[in-house]
Amino acid sequence: MEVETTDFLIIGSGVAGLRAAIELAPHGSVLVATKDMPKESSTEYAQGGIAVALSDEDKVGIHFEDTLKAGDGLCNEDAVKILVGEGPERILELISWGAAFDKEGTKLDFAIEGAHSRKRVLHAKGDSTGKELERVLLNKVRSYTSVKKYPFAFTVDLIIKDGECCGAYILKDRKMTAIIAKATILCTGGAGQIFARTTNPMVATGDGMAIAFRAGAQLEDMEFIQFHPTSLYSQYAPQFLLSEAMRGEGAILRSINKEPFMKNYHRDAELAPRDIVSRAIISEMVRTESSHVYLDMTHLGKDFVRKRFPQIYSTCLQYNVEITNDLIPVSPAAHYIMGGVKTDINGITSIKRLYAAGETACTGVHGANRLASNSLLEGLVYGARTGSAAYQSSSGIKNLTAVKEQVSEHAAAYHSIPEHDEIRMTLRKLMWDRVGIIRCGESLKEAREKLSEWAFILDKVFYTRRELELKNMLTVAMMITEAASLRKGSVGAHYRSDYREKGPDWQKHIALFREDDRIKYSPA
Ligand code: SIN
Repeated sequence: MEVETTDFLIIGSGVAGLRAAIELAPHGSVLVATKDMPKESSTEYAQGGIAVALSDEDKVGIHFEDTLKAGDGLCNEDAVKILVGEGPERILELISWGAAFDKEGTKLDFAIEGAHSRKRVLHAKGDSTGKELERVLLNKVRSYTSVKKYPFAFTVDLIIKDGECCGAYILKDRKMTAIIAKATILCTGGAGQIFARTTNPMVATGDGMAIAFRAGAQLEDMEFIQFHPTSLYSQYAPQFLLSEAMRGEGAILRSINKEPFMKNYHRDAELAPRDIVSRAIISEMVRTESSHVYLDMTHLGKDFVRKRFPQIYSTCLQYNVEITNDLIPVSPAAHYIMGGVKTDINGITSIKRLYAAGETACTGVHGANRLASNSLLEGLVYGARTGSAAYQSSSGIKNLTAVKEQVSEHAAAYHSIPEHDEIRMTLRKLMWDRVGIIRCGESLKEAREKLSEWAFILDKVFYTRRELELKNMLTVAMMITEAASLRKGSVGAHYRSDYREKGPDWQKHIALFREDDRIKYSPA
């Protein structure tokens, strides 16, 4: 096996990974490993925008309050204070690096989305905010010769020696390579692909969470999955996200019979918190025995809609939906995981020299439900903080040679499962049907039983991306199902039809970890 060394290894190249790389670049060699092309991340597809308290009508304290309210009592307040407090500086820095956010005249234009009490969502080229962030951050990263990128490099497992993370085994050019590093940062994004309906790109298979779990790290809040109310619903189209900003600009949800319904569910109607809108849509679908509802923009000006949402306009047009004329068929889809690898406010995990940032991590900043457009900001703020912490705590580590000599072959023999794609499809459907928007003891039990039938996959060592992803998806699906079974109550985005109230011990956080090859949890 080839062995390479770097000072800092970053796994993932979305906003958190790139921002961490920029922080680390002046301090040593940085390797950014990513399983696809560097820009292929959830960041690239983020539409609506990035929330930040920078408008004349807003204050950091109001952004703080809105975030806590959305988090339904489970946010880590220190983490939220840092997010909203450091957010403005991170955004101004990004603008100084060339980010072109949309303006109204000479001033930045702020949009509103669900559960925000002020207009505070910056956007770029209408609905291509993530693309702009990725462009600027990748350009900035390119300006440092100390940063090297490995595209199409799949991180198989972490290298753990004496309880410390010393790097990772990476499959690249069909060869296993051990990358030895002083600090390793997981920034692999979310796990939406675990569900049959998702707004997430194909790369979002929970890899960072699964490899951290296998290495013995703690994960927390895994039961909290946010379902976005509106993704395009068509047999012939991909599950394309229809940004919440559309409802922010006045789009209306209508049942299959074309009746508006959100006022019957919440006083904020279309701008109610996402979990409420998603469940309202499901109720309407059940009531009218339909597979979708409609999003209606036809009353908004044609020119305005085309200018404000150019990407959404042209994508829908490809599937014969002209959004200024036609009602858009939509249904909810898995969008974001609030839980992840447990970290402190500096990205430090329960394993020494292992860090995590962005959607892979769980600082507790989103509590039980994330406020819309807070995740790109999280990537910037916590990517930078994690990079800085990784540098500071690695400055004493000089000699990587000792570890280099100890690294043995990752596996003597590789396995293959011919039916892996069938299992992947069945798993995604199972998670959507049984561990989706509305859960109950019975559905969770069924899911646990079915998932355990595939437990044989967890012991196998694979050599292809699809099989490696399946193993990670199964690991994360098991953790989500376990945590959802343990939380006997409904909080934030976790809703159980058999426990509709929060329940007596709702303020607990469920931490999961591996012991004797089983999922253990605390509080026990
Ligand atoms: C959206 O544009 O609706 C997604 C924004 C987010 O999830 O933060």
